[in-house]
Amino acid sequence: MQTPRNCPERELFIGVYATKLKELSDTPYCSRSLYELERMAERCLEAMEKAGEGDRSWLERYLSHVVLRQGREGFRSWQLIKGFDALRDTAKRLPNVLGSFVEADDLVHWAIVRFAQLYEELQSIQGLTRMVESLTMALDSKEQYTSSHCRSVQKITEKIGRVLGIDVGLAALLHDVGKIHIPDRILTKRGPLTGQEWLILKQHPYHSFRIVCPINPEIASVCLRHHERPDGGGYPLGETEVRVEANVVAAADTLHAICSRRTYRNYQRLDVALQAIRRSRGKQFLPSVVDAVEKAYGDMAGFLASFGPPATHGDDTHATNSQPRAA
Ligand SMILES: [Fe+2]
Ligand SMILES: [Fe+2]
Repeated sequence: MQTPRNCPERELFIGVYATKLKELSDTPYCSRSLYELERMAERCLEAMEKAGEGDRSWLERYLSHVVLRQGREGFRSWQLIKGFDALRDTAKRLPNVLGSFVEADDLVHWAIVRFAQLYEELQSIQGLTRMVESLTMALDSKEQYTSSHCRSVQKITEKIGRVLGIDVGLAALLHDVGKIHIPDRILTKRGPLTGQEWLILKQHPYHSFRIVCPINPEIASVCLRHHERPDGGGYPLGETEVRVEANVVAAADTLHAICSRRTYRNYQRLDVALQAIRRSRGKQFLPSVVDAVEKAYGDMAGFLASFGPPATHGDDTHATNSQPRAA
């Protein structure tokens, strides 16, 4: 049962909790004004009261707010846990505000566990985002084309993935990050690659896997397989059981490779790219992925066309390669 807002015991609860936070000298709480901490204590108390009445959605929202705001402000998780200990101590000292101490203690315990889950989720999302940013920046400095290619493939992948109801945007962004390990002389070579150079280039999915795996094995698995084919003619594994997520990235990869101008080949129209995808149905691409590309065609056309008109002066020196080079 919620106590009236102007109840002296409730005001005392807010004051005691805020003071306990203020006295946590090894946390950022100690540098906050007492007024700010009182407002925070009041919001927390309201959420706890609602939870005590059986509605934990307020407390869930309050915890999400704390995790997002204070996580961003540089609080460490143990410092935030100390804040919850202060709440527990206050509930123990003033048991009439939040019902029996046993109930309040259970609630605080639930809040701490839920908070820890939310905090961990935030850290992993922030960590992943930071990693992706730093890796794409590293690609920027390695080769401008690969970096912009990865961002474009991400956009195309999202459009195809939307048709299939899957989200592989991050894998698309990182699929070629392993090219960091491929020598520039191969990445930017004008003219056909030698057999030895192809062998080196074909290692890039494995390098992508090695880089991404420690952060997210699921995304790394898609990166590893973005050149696999249902007919077994892909690389580096030669698997015939092709993952749909990886095959969507492969289709987007091919669409962008055909439609953009490269050092070794000119831009081609989207309908040419689409025909290439159709011809590879069941060979390079899963039928479900080809169907999804057809459905996403209208959504993709404008974006792919933005890569520019065909160049008028040729550097089409890769005519000996019937397919776009591994992109
Ligand atoms: Fe690629
Ligand atoms: Fe690739």
